[in-house]
Amino acid sequence: MGRRVQVGLGVFLSVAATASSAKAGVATAPRPKTKGAAAKGASKPWPQALADLDQARHGRDPPAPKIMKAAVIACKEGKQWDRAAKLLREGSNLRYRMGQEAWEAGIYSAAQADMWRAAYNLIEDMDLREDLTPSKDAFQVALKALDKHGQTARAAHLLAAMREYGHTPDLKGLSTPITALDKAGTWDEALDKLEEDHGPPIPLRPLARPIGPPLETMEIKPGNPYAKEIRLLQHVFREACRGEPVTVCAAIEQFGEGVLGGRGQWLKVAGGAKSGCLRAVMQGAPPGGQILEVGAYCGFSSSQMTMAVPGVQISTLEVDPVHVVIARSVINFGGLTKWIDVWTGHSKDILPRLRMRYGNCQNLKYSAAFFDQKGSRYDEDLTALERLQLLKPGAVLVADNVLKPGAPIFLWHLFCQDNYEAQVVTMQEFAMEISEDWMTVSVQKEQAALDTLDDVADYKKQLAEDLEAMALRGEEDVWPEGKDRFEKYELHDDVPEELKVLSKEADRMRDKAIGKGSVPFQEWAKFANDVKRRVAPFGIEVTAQSY
Ligand SMILES: C[S@@+](CC[C@H](N)C(=O)[O-])C[C@H]1O[C@@H](n2cnc3c(N)ncnc32)[C@H](O)[C@@H]1O
Repeated sequence: MGRRVQVGLGVFLSVAATASSAKAGVATAPRPKTKGAAAKGASKPWPQALADLDQARHGRDPPAPKIMKAAVIACKEGKQWDRAAKLLREGSNLRYRMGQEAWEAGIYSAAQADMWRAAYNLIEDMDLREDLTPSKDAFQVALKALDKHGQTARAAHLLAAMREYGHTPDLKGLSTPITALDKAGTWDEALDKLEEDHGPPIPLRPLARPIGPPLETMEIKPGNPYAKEIRLLQHVFREACRGEPVTVCAAIEQFGEGVLGGRGQWLKVAGGAKSGCLRAVMQGAPPGGQILEVGAYCGFSSSQMTMAVPGVQISTLEVDPVHVVIARSVINFGGLTKWIDVWTGHSKDILPRLRMRYGNCQNLKYSAAFFDQKGSRYDEDLTALERLQLLKPGAVLVADNVLKPGAPIFLWHLFCQDNYEAQVVTMQEFAMEISEDWMTVSVQKEQAALDTLDDVADYKKQLAEDLEAMALRGEEDVWPEGKDRFEKYELHDDVPEELKVLSKEADRMRDKAIGKGSVPFQEWAKFANDVKRRVAPFGIEVTAQSY
């Protein structure tokens, strides 16, 4: 690893042992330019520098490093802290050589913007580059930002790395743990102790770089499969800050509204007023259980839910493996992997296996579920959840897109069977101003829950008989709670014919939207109005509004 020092990695401690030989090289490293020097580089005001960059972005190739570099420096000079930090990150992701000045400006800006993770990651990236040397000032501002946010373990890594570079840290105004660490001087022991107290440092970069060009610079042609989702991921990597899920969700919404919306394309995430409704409901869910989502797509709504109820475990099911990759990448980028598990498969296959996967799981219970899969599945998936007794008493269920393209059979069961307290919440569809959509928010009534228990007892009896018969025939039971068992368990078939027809039409509309020819916004709005008119005779109408 030459004289380079790895900061923030679990392997740091082993590196520290070789540090004394590394120091000689560090002592002679050229002193980098500092804040004052950066000012000299800013020849234009920041709006102009950003306009130049914008213009360059519209060209065929990615903007040249020097334009990006000028923009970083100009934004820093203009106190546009988060802009400067994000642009530096973008340049870093593009593997641009933007020079010491821009890096120093970006790190300084990240620290000023309170983006401590960004400041830390950027120092780490800088450390890996042969052409750059983090200066004392860069370390110092990042150290302050980490200290301010109680990131003692990371601050200790920076302190240790600073020393490897021959910088003497200025500890004035820093908190007691940091100054105590500095006094201790014995880094191995101090870091061991810190790990004990604060847990191991989070690994901040993969062990190996991917072969091939970075995703950010890959050209994605409009007709390519999953072009929309891959572009979305590029946008997130470019615009958001690693480890800051607020910025990740903001970037996704901005992509939906600003990028796709302008081209008449729809991003099917529960953004805008929908996300407000979802977050509010999650905060009102009974405590002590987990959250289930069906339909992860790109990980937007699961990230929103985690931010609404931090510390609650979320399982999100996704049938499309490419969407799984996108969702996992987005969630990982936002630093939420610990809280959100994306599981690949179709709900009808994996709902009965949730207990097997999650834990030690006879006690697995959900406080809330969010249905965002195909509307025509809502009814069956809810029945499966009820029969598997996976919902806590008082658990809330949110279902999206029940008007556009619609989930008429599910609505009928919610509103016409008296088993649920339910609300129909109206809102504008995310990034599609002209169309209304509805979400339902519902809680099962106590009596209905008891009736389900009776049903389940019947089901279990039937299951025991089946198992006995299988054993007699010498057949192995591989999947005790499998889908085939559930299919035997008929759903009520008393749904009015008109709603069954409407459900098929909704499925066709959904298929059309997923297929090659997208559905124009006008057509969506017209369809939503039609669904609204046709469910009204069944007493299904709006009871609440979300902005
Ligand atoms: C509307 S998107 C979900 C959006 C996401 N909840 C959000 O707001 O960020 C629907 C997703 O559900 C997935 N899906 C559809 N039917 C499913 C099923 N039965 N089981 C699991 N995933 C399903 C689709 O592949 C798609 O990615």
